[in-house]
Amino acid sequence: MAFFRSVSALSKLRSRVGQQTGLSNSVRWLQTQTSHNTDLKSELQELIPEYQERVKKLKKDYGKVELGNTTVDMVIGGMRGMTALLWLGSAVDPEEGIRFRGMSIPECQKALPTAIPGGEPLPEGILWLLLTGKIPSKEQVDSLSQELRSRATVPGFAYKAIDALPVSAHPMTQFATGVMALQVESEFQKAHQSGIHKTKYWEPTYEDCMNLIARVPAVAAYVYRRIYKDGKIIPMDDSLDYGANYSHMLGFDDPQMLEFMRLYITIHSDHEGGNVSSHTAHLVASPLSDPYLAFAAALNGLAGPLHGLANQEVLRWIRAVVAHFGTPHINEEQLKDYILKTLNSGQVVPGFGHGVLRKTDPRYTCQREFALKHLPDDPLFLLVSKLKDIVPPILTQLGKVKNPWPNVDAHSGVLLNYYGLTEENYFTVLFGVSRSFGVGPQLIWDRALGMPLERPKSVTLERLEELCAKAGSS
Ligand SMILES: CC(C)(COP(=O)(O)OP(=O)(O)OC[C@H]1O[C@@H](n2cnc3c(N)ncnc32)[C@H](O)[C@@H]1OP(=O)(O)O)[C@@H](O)C(=O)NCCC(=O)NCCS
Repeated sequence: MAFFRSVSALSKLRSRVGQQTGLSNSVRWLQTQTSHNTDLKSELQELIPEYQERVKKLKKDYGKVELGNTTVDMVIGGMRGMTALLWLGSAVDPEEGIRFRGMSIPECQKALPTAIPGGEPLPEGILWLLLTGKIPSKEQVDSLSQELRSRATVPGFAYKAIDALPVSAHPMTQFATGVMALQVESEFQKAHQSGIHKTKYWEPTYEDCMNLIARVPAVAAYVYRRIYKDGKIIPMDDSLDYGANYSHMLGFDDPQMLEFMRLYITIHSDHEGGNVSSHTAHLVASPLSDPYLAFAAALNGLAGPLHGLANQEVLRWIRAVVAHFGTPHINEEQLKDYILKTLNSGQVVPGFGHGVLRKTDPRYTCQREFALKHLPDDPLFLLVSKLKDIVPPILTQLGKVKNPWPNVDAHSGVLLNYYGLTEENYFTVLFGVSRSFGVGPQLIWDRALGMPLERPKSVTLERLEELCAKAGSS
């Protein structure tokens, strides 16, 4: 009961803080939680005992509290709706979408530090928020930026591993190969081999995750320049923040593109724990595989066309539409016909639908707002805007699509294309870099909280039929 009393006191306090300021309760509450510690690891170190206590209490006193029943639908339906994972950084509400530590995307845009006045959030800010649950100050974000730059040197053998692949290999294959090669320097693996005590697991995991996050932009940019720019590599610029540096290393220095990259990484960082890439990372890390092994596995899931690869597929599909009609200025009837043609050939309309969401993805909405501000007359943006209105009623008519609304991938491609990043096969790599910001913090917490090996029960088809027959006859 003491536990519930303290939870209820906490929510009353949050509510009071919110009422006093007129701002959203969660944002005001997080702001009151801000500390002045500029070292992220020390900040985390202070938080860990409190979180460990909370999890210990749940395990000891509330272990048998039910969170819902497992149904046959769940077993043969990809575990939809089955609550089975603890994920600290974010949660997706079917109606309103993602919240990072309780904060919506517009709230993050208001509260997180920016590079320019009124600009988009710096990705370092979302990393700090996801890991600590606290809104960082500009000073803290700058210090984290500096820390990431100091960790960013990629060992030469990672580039050599990529070079061993044909240039024609898909960018995600090259990127995941580079990440796998980084594993050679895993601090966790070394510490585990030398017999580190399990209560200390989180520390080398922290080192691995921060090194991984710091190094993936250089690996990802190498892949881009190798495939599309004759291998002419652009080194990191020590004066730039994380998002700007990635854009710079790719070869894009337009200030608007730097802003878009900061926003892109922020909104693609995390999407609770059950999506394929995040869940894969958590699962693969559960037998104490190090963060590099876990993240490389996550990237391989992200490379699937129903998950991260959909942003590539969206631009490919849009280009095919434009090529089909010979112009991006296509009327409603023509677009409807083309959508039906796609569906009748047994394909999905990429960029629409979601496993959890039941409304337009707020990650789509914020990219749309960015486009309305910066490229309102771009022909491909105007086409994407038309699709937002035309596709959902057609998908609804199919009678089986649970969410006909646009998702995050419906928009990112046309924005990248506008700023000159036109090679759609590369798009999922950008998603992969961003996903390290969500996966890394959770892997650190997994080890800090002593999360066990993941091992759900499976059932054979015969056993499932037997159980159903019994249920039917009773
Ligand atoms: C995201 C996605 C995989 C979610 O799948 P899901 O949870 O199984 O979605 P639903 O329960 O709504 O699917 C029910 C049916 O509608 C279909 N459907 C869902 N979205 C569709 C779309 N965009 N176009 C055509 N059909 C779609 C499914 O393929 C499924 O058909 P089936 O029963 O014949 O296999 C699915 O919406 C999709 O394939 N979207 C396009 C790819 C995409 O944009 N992925 C990025 C997601 S962020």
